[in-house]
Amino acid sequence: MGTEPSRSDEPRVVRLASATDLDGFRRACRQLIARGVLPEQVTWETGLAAEPDLFGSEPSHLDRAVVEPVPDGEGQCTLRVPEAFATLCASVVLHRDSTRFGLLYRLLWRLQHDSGLRHDPLDPDRLALTRMAHSVHRDQHKMKAFVRFTRIEPGVDVECPQAEPLHVAWFEPEHHIVEAIAPFFVRRFTQMRWAILTPERCVRWNGSQLEFNPGAGRNDAPPADAGEKLWLTYYRNIFNPARLKLRMMQKEMPKRYWKNLPEAALIGPLSAQAQQRTAAMIDGAPTVSTRRRPLVAAPVIVRAAAVAVAAEGLHGLAELREATERCRACPIGQHATQAVSGEGPLSARVMFVGEQPGDQEDLHGRPFVGPSGQLFDRALADLGWARGAVYVTNAVKHFKYELRGKRRIHKTPSQQEAAACLDWLEREIDLVQPAALVALGATAARSLMGAPVAVMKDRGRWLIRNDGRRVLITLHPSALLRAEPAERDAAYEAWLDDLREAASFAPGRTA
Ligand code: URA
Repeated sequence: MGTEPSRSDEPRVVRLASATDLDGFRRACRQLIARGVLPEQVTWETGLAAEPDLFGSEPSHLDRAVVEPVPDGEGQCTLRVPEAFATLCASVVLHRDSTRFGLLYRLLWRLQHDSGLRHDPLDPDRLALTRMAHSVHRDQHKMKAFVRFTRIEPGVDVECPQAEPLHVAWFEPEHHIVEAIAPFFVRRFTQMRWAILTPERCVRWNGSQLEFNPGAGRNDAPPADAGEKLWLTYYRNIFNPARLKLRMMQKEMPKRYWKNLPEAALIGPLSAQAQQRTAAMIDGAPTVSTRRRPLVAAPVIVRAAAVAVAAEGLHGLAELREATERCRACPIGQHATQAVSGEGPLSARVMFVGEQPGDQEDLHGRPFVGPSGQLFDRALADLGWARGAVYVTNAVKHFKYELRGKRRIHKTPSQQEAAACLDWLEREIDLVQPAALVALGATAARSLMGAPVAVMKDRGRWLIRNDGRRVLITLHPSALLRAEPAERDAAYEAWLDDLREAASFAPGRTA
């Protein structure tokens, strides 16, 4: 601030329009700071109900001047706050704790008077507010992951007279997050008509507009239905006993959510059978390929991919595929059924690069057709991108695995193996000339960038290669398949958000 305001000891009550009135809070702060009102002199109220405040100890506020936040500019000063404080405010106002506005104002006041404070991450006010923000984020993740819709057929419910079914869910968030999270559900279920009922606030989407209403009771939401039965069957089927980590699961899916989660009833029985089922999986039917593609016209075993490319004078993807098939620059090729080269049109503007073919890809000779591929296809469909318009390939062209019982279990390729395959990948890039590359996971990112990439840190960001091409970093779909069931939906949404970064290179729409 330009001039130091004179301090005011006069107590004030600030009435915000609602529990999450961030705009009103900002305007009130500018007024209060302009008038030099000390944090301990302010009581914060939201909506009609007074929220007792940590810093206003008196039971009645009738003797206090009421501050109604005025429009921008009137009697306000311009505040300079660190960006991190603005971000913190946006989350903390959603917290249920009635002291949140008082704490935020106190930190803001202190930031105005002590500029060194912005560099002190251990300041107790800042720590308390950061904890609140984390709690809000966790609650938002839980809501994304644990909302379960029940389908109401048209005509069954007077509330739902239209020709389309309505999907209704009941959820009990810990904080005031319904309005903030609604756009997520709009993006995720744009084509559906849905309503989420909560004790404090309800939200409804009619396919084109969001509507917010007062809270509802548990009985206003429909009971379990056939859709739920289908979900339970799906849950039973995707439950992988070999990946069960019970303690982690309970941490991610705290018991307070269980009563509204139909699948919670399955966790006990499925966990009890986990050991037995894992043993059966290991002893189960083999997936080892029964057919090995012969090396076509391979008079010599080439020692390096680059030599093969140069020597054979390749001009097109078909030739490149044939040469890749013959590559034995590393030991993986000896054991795989066949090399799996990329596929897609030469005109593709974006190239997705995975790690290496999996069991199914090895058998079919095509990239991303197994479980990871199915998730990848779902993501493209959700983004409205046509798979036929993108180029999909891998950093390593042969399937590396180890035999466990009769099953072929994926093994991560070593750096040397990925390096041996690099020329095949670079050759594909030269032929396709994509405007942008998307690295799915660490192996792809390393191969494309020529150096290790911290995928979790850089996910959703563009890095620039030496050749000037942009590389979007994100997770490999198998990381999402491995995620705890309770985290999967949120992880998937975050992945879509990463991929959306490539929207400007968006290939032909599917619809
Ligand atoms: N994982 C990959 O990285 N690529 C595939 O083609 C399949 C699974």
